[in-house]
Amino acid sequence: MAFALNTLRVPIIQAPMAGGICTPALVAAVANAGGLGSFGFAYSAPQKISDDLGAAKRLTSGPINANFFVFQDVPAPSIELQQQAIAAIKHLPLAHDLRLTAPEPPFYPDLNTMLEPVWLHRPAVLTFHFGLPHPDILARARLLNIAVGVTATCLAEGLAIEAAGADFVVAQGVEAGGHRGTFQPDSLDEELPTLALVKQLSTSLRIPVVAAGGLMTGGDVALAIHAGASAAQLGTAFLCCDESGASPAHKHFLLTKPTRGTAFTHAFSGRRAQGLRNRFIEAMQGQPHLPFPLQNTLTTPLRQLAVQHDDGEHQSLWAGRGYAQARPMDAQALMKVLEREVAQHVN
Ligand SMILES: Cc1cc2nc3c(=O)[nH]c(=O)nc-3n(C[C@H](O)[C@H](O)[C@H](O)COP(=O)(O)O)c2cc1C
Repeated sequence: MAFALNTLRVPIIQAPMAGGICTPALVAAVANAGGLGSFGFAYSAPQKISDDLGAAKRLTSGPINANFFVFQDVPAPSIELQQQAIAAIKHLPLAHDLRLTAPEPPFYPDLNTMLEPVWLHRPAVLTFHFGLPHPDILARARLLNIAVGVTATCLAEGLAIEAAGADFVVAQGVEAGGHRGTFQPDSLDEELPTLALVKQLSTSLRIPVVAAGGLMTGGDVALAIHAGASAAQLGTAFLCCDESGASPAHKHFLLTKPTRGTAFTHAFSGRRAQGLRNRFIEAMQGQPHLPFPLQNTLTTPLRQLAVQHDDGEHQSLWAGRGYAQARPMDAQALMKVLEREVAQHVN
């Protein structure tokens, strides 16, 4: 039998978050506390995926989720666009001395190669962002009793996910931090708030719905469940945990800049994603950028330099709209607090 969301003792999923945030210690602490711990393996090498899954499995016998991006083919951008995108970044003082070159194919990792360690380690859950994986992948997961979930930002995507045979849908509201999981990068986006999307999907679909976006407290989780969700997926709430691999500047900005607010930008990766407003986002507004994920490759040296300099103004500070309620503590303690808050609101 594949894992079922209603078997979670605490109906909380620590969201998959790419970029080294989801350490084995974080994932295992959440799983040990009765929730579902997730890895965000978006761009990770197969060896790293294998190492992380193995390390987490040594720390917990609880459920683990391995999450991947579904990359779409992308044509090579024109030389002119490459030059414009590079010039826009070089304009920033921190980038003056960086040697930036246009990304070369292959522009993104091969999903089948990345999934090899997953078939070996067999985590309880496999989730996908940015669309549906090939039917063969869903079939293989089913054969191995791995439950599959896919992000939906609107009803049409939810219906397609159910029709493809996935086990659950992650309803990502507009409050969510990180990349918008729309199937098409630049589709017209309804931008439904989390609770409205959860209500719509849970009344229209037969498969369970997970709520994601702006949920920071157990009270928020209880509201999501009341709206029809089977579980709640929290990302930003876990960013400031001791075990989170978020950079020190990322954690510092989340905890000390409650009035900054968030914004959507294409400028870091080429796809819309929500994070704390910073100088990079402001400066890149309206500037040319490469398509996803080439812009991510292009901005990598700048983002790495910013992390080295502890400079929160030039790295991606992905965060949901509830970030001012982030609580710095270890993940086990946070799970206990959340569990208590959920119980208070449900009873
Ligand atoms: C730092 C960060 C990185 C993220 N990376 C991923 C990812 O790799 N895969 C994915 O499916 N979702 C990713 N997300 C989105 C989360 O799965 C989830 O939708 C979101 O965190 C929920 O909103 P919240 O941050 O307000 O809790 C990311 C979110 C954040 C904040």
